Amino acid sequence: MTSQITVLATGGTIAGIAGSAIAKDYAAGQISIEDYLDQVGGLGLEAEFSGQQIANIDSADIGPKEWNALHPAIMAALNDETCDGVIVTHGTDTLEETAFLLDLTLPANKPVVLVGAMRPADAVGYDGLRNFANAVRVASDPAAAGRGVLVVMGDRVFGARDVRKVRTRGTDAFRGFPRESVALVTPSSLEWFGAPWRTQGGAQFAWCDDLPEVGVVHVHAGLDGQSVGRFIGDTMRGVVIAGVGEGNLPEPVRQELVRRRGEGLLVVRASRADEGLVDREPEDEANGFVAARALNPQKARLLLQLLIANGVSDPAAIQQAFDGS
Ligand code: SIN
Repeated sequence: MTSQITVLATGGTIAGIAGSAIAKDYAAGQISIEDYLDQVGGLGLEAEFSGQQIANIDSADIGPKEWNALHPAIMAALNDETCDGVIVTHGTDTLEETAFLLDLTLPANKPVVLVGAMRPADAVGYDGLRNFANAVRVASDPAAAGRGVLVVMGDRVFGARDVRKVRTRGTDAFRGFPRESVALVTPSSLEWFGAPWRTQGGAQFAWCDDLPEVGVVHVHAGLDGQSVGRFIGDTMRGVVIAGVGEGNLPEPVRQELVRRRGEGLLVVRASRADEGLVDREPEDEANGFVAARALNPQKARLLLQLLIANGVSDPAAIQQAFDGS
């Protein structure tokens, strides 16, 4: 059966142009959604598309403005009974952040799939059309519902909470942690590993179009408390520490954060390590800190922003949200 897919385009390399099949440099976000869907039409996919251009930019520039346009557009598609699934085309650099933010704030009643490409559209070996065809396969499958927002890259499907970009180049740039991929996909096949995990259909958090200020501190050897204090300033409501190892930090930095915690700042310890599980430690209780568990710093930041926006400021309640992976 032909599925009806809403495609929301934001730019990125999947819509990028180099001007030559072998050029190194290129510009992301050049092809319009209309032209892109014209190309897709030649693939013979069993789907009909309606497209909307949300933005056409490099994903390094994606932020609240684009999210505030994207979220209601997805909600409108999910509420449209003729729509079977949604695909968002996106640059790969911040794709994991948009995917996770949407995962936390959208219902899981229909498939929502983010997809990108590592090579621009006119490069030899462009991966964007294959990734897109794979995304169509996933977005057309009713069994994709109940799995939250999904990311399709390189014949694999990832959960939004797990997915992360781990390489700067190459078409195998994405990995999942702690779960690797949740399905394998090609344009002609789709194999899920396990049952849907979102048992409640509704959104986990209310959407907020004015997220509070939360920063990420990248810990390095010799980092001092004063620099961290200056970075936090007077307006931040929370801070995520990209700590060393299991979310560890130099003693002067810990002391500065404990002092700021006393003034109400919320502190989450994550790790700068690639696969950084950060468990709660006995000192977290005394410090008033939260452990990020499997979330990397950039995702921990989004979860903390949403929690604060939804009125949650008790570290024990915040810890529960981080534990709930
Ligand atoms: C971007 O994130 O917009 C550029 C890089 C990419 O899409 O791979």
